Amino acid sequence: MLTHKLPLILAAAGAAKAAIIYTGTNEAGLEFGSSEFPGQYNKHFINPDPTTVPFWKEAGLNIYRVGFQWERAQPAQGGALNETYLAYLDQFIDAATGAGQYVMLEPHNYARYYGKIVGSDIPNSALTDFWTKMATRYKSNRLVQFDLMNEPHTMPVAQWFSAAQASITAIRATGFKNTLYVPGIAWTGAHSWVSSGNSAGAGVISDPENNWAYDMHQYFDTDYSGTNKVCSHGVEVFTAATSWLRANGKKAFLGEFATTTDASCDGLIDKIVAYLEANSDVWIGWAWWAAGPWWGDYMFNIEPSVTAPQRDVLKKYFVGNKTPITTTTTSRATTTSTTRSTTTTRTTSAGTGCATLTVTAAGATVTVNGPPVTGEYMAFSN
Ligand SMILES: *[C@@H]1O[C@H](CO)[C@@H](O)[C@H](O)[C@H]1NC(C)=O
Repeated sequence: MLTHKLPLILAAAGAAKAAIIYTGTNEAGLEFGSSEFPGQYNKHFINPDPTTVPFWKEAGLNIYRVGFQWERAQPAQGGALNETYLAYLDQFIDAATGAGQYVMLEPHNYARYYGKIVGSDIPNSALTDFWTKMATRYKSNRLVQFDLMNEPHTMPVAQWFSAAQASITAIRATGFKNTLYVPGIAWTGAHSWVSSGNSAGAGVISDPENNWAYDMHQYFDTDYSGTNKVCSHGVEVFTAATSWLRANGKKAFLGEFATTTDASCDGLIDKIVAYLEANSDVWIGWAWWAAGPWWGDYMFNIEPSVTAPQRDVLKKYFVGNKTPITTTTTSRATTTSTTRSTTTTRTTSAGTGCATLTVTAAGATVTVNGPPVTGEYMAFSN
């Protein structure tokens, strides 16, 4: 009697499969005024506002992709990190990770350092030295993740992935175990992941911790640049990259995306998120472009201090305040007619599948992946 209903429970829980793990926003400001070296705080650049963290946490966001400038963080190639500049970054990191949220740090440098291209104008060791120092500085905070570079472009595919692999190896050598993100060339566009040659070159990446994903970006205007307010493309832009990820057993994070309030973009955010959720076996998360104190009337601005219709739409999809338990319980209620004890626990298990949801019913245990337990270390395998 107890057992014959069990397959239904198993089926319901199994149907939950993978879920989007991270939902968040970019936080811009520290990379502003990028032609100014070292630049001046509150004149050329600003730090993201730590006092916005409670707003975002309440909204359910669980990750911030935070940009900064490599040259400001390390003024001389191979030299010491600039603690004064990083202290501005730390203000936001401390607020966010102190609230149990994740931060993904990204040098907003396009694979360039003072304009010199990594792997040709300057050696890979310039970048590995920087990441070694950053990893050593941040490895004790399990909620700090690294995105190796913002939008490499106009360089050979193999040259970039060689620099990326060298960076991963250097970062892991310090004992830094947190998630890493690897972009491709061509501004790491999802729409061109295959046509740009990224798909042909990206397969070389390997990680001793096996805790990484590709970082892809996507805009929906005519030339995919994110500079025009009119939306000319839809979720079909993801098809080739999604197929490639699935065929190769890889995962990706949509590290930048945005649409405007132009009528041509109506409903598109819902469609994008629905697409990523439907393909969450390969897409682990997303971050909107952008929040930050200095955007003003920028068409993509979602800083809490401004009116932003896009923010209201995104709030529906932030996973931080959701648990997958509701879904499972509902499924069970509709497929069983008797009352019996069901216990549900949410845990994280490093190295396996991110957060896991374990449902125990009538002596059987089902484990499915789910959004993270806020504030705990997560790892996942490719
Ligand atoms: C270090 O950063 C501070 C703050 O941005 C800046 O004023 C200072 O000039 C920087 N030092 C170097 C050597 O670039």
